[in-house]
Amino acid sequence: MTVLVTGGAGYIGSIVTEELVNSGNHVVVLDNLSQGHQTAVVPEAVFIKGDLCDQEILHNTLQKYGVDVVMHLAADKSVENSMIEPGKFFWNNVACGINLLDCMVKNGVMSMVFSSSAAVYGQPKEIPITEDAPLDPVNVYGESKLIFERILRWYGEIHGLKSISLRYFNVAGASKRFGSDCRPETNLIPIIIEVALGQRKYLSVFGDDYDTEDGTCIRDYIHVLDIARAHILALNHLDAYTSTKVFNFGSGDGYSVLEVVEEARKVTGATIPIDFCPRRPGDPPKLVASSDLAKKNLGWRLEYPRLEQIIKSAWLWRKEHPTGYDY
Ligand code: UFG
Repeated sequence: MTVLVTGGAGYIGSIVTEELVNSGNHVVVLDNLSQGHQTAVVPEAVFIKGDLCDQEILHNTLQKYGVDVVMHLAADKSVENSMIEPGKFFWNNVACGINLLDCMVKNGVMSMVFSSSAAVYGQPKEIPITEDAPLDPVNVYGESKLIFERILRWYGEIHGLKSISLRYFNVAGASKRFGSDCRPETNLIPIIIEVALGQRKYLSVFGDDYDTEDGTCIRDYIHVLDIARAHILALNHLDAYTSTKVFNFGSGDGYSVLEVVEEARKVTGATIPIDFCPRRPGDPPKLVASSDLAKKNLGWRLEYPRLEQIIKSAWLWRKEHPTGYDY
């Protein structure tokens, strides 16, 4: 199959591309490099620098390479920034996505795997979270992902576009070749690794007064390789459904910020100083997934279920690439 991966030079996109190539697909990566790195794209994939709002590049790319399916990962992803610049998030994550969908329909490319997020649930009442839980985002990032999921439903009903939305929980870790190099890093595990390497003095812990056992937020961390495999499974199941489908992807285990720090101290042997700070706007206290539906319908299984494996892979990659992709 020929797969167009938008955002394929980014953290998750680069590893999804690697997996797609390893499983025998032709891959075309479209990325504007606003956050991604060209060196993070495997040489077997075609790389095109371009923007999702550029109709001409989209049209030419779909035509020239005979794209069968689009994996749409390109997005602004910082929850924190989404609460500062909502317009930018709605523009990039929704408006540019519509541009992509319209170009796909015009060119007869009728299948998409969409990178969605647990942030669509907001503050869930029941844990673990299943796909039929209420959808009530508490930040602009989550809202932008939910709007796009809904748009996909209508493109399905009206144009017959098939789609599967993958609601990722907290993706972390690295493959042997590729890892996280966001500038600046905003996610917990990459920041902790920078502290362990001495590149930052300490970790700011956002809030210690949540209604959790140690007062810090609980998240469900999932290895990026397990997420990458989820994309391949989704790709192979696109034809199995007549309407748009959504699946959760998490490990099913929740860890508080302090538990992640403790595990990282064990893995790295570093002290990892912390400083308690006020809560970060838009942070739900606890997000833990039920991924039973993906297990049942897609045959998905966790290959890396332990937090230690996730942190260790991130640590090994970053130790080998202390300046990320600047080499
Ligand atoms: N945190 C800190 N200090 C930091 C960074 C994070 O205490 O410097 C805390 C956050 O407050 C939160 C937890 O660590 O409680 C995890 O934060 P991340 O920024 O790593 O991740 P988020 O849970 O905010 O968001 C991530 C992805 C989103 C996705 C969401 C789904 O970035 O794309 O997981 O759970 F939607």
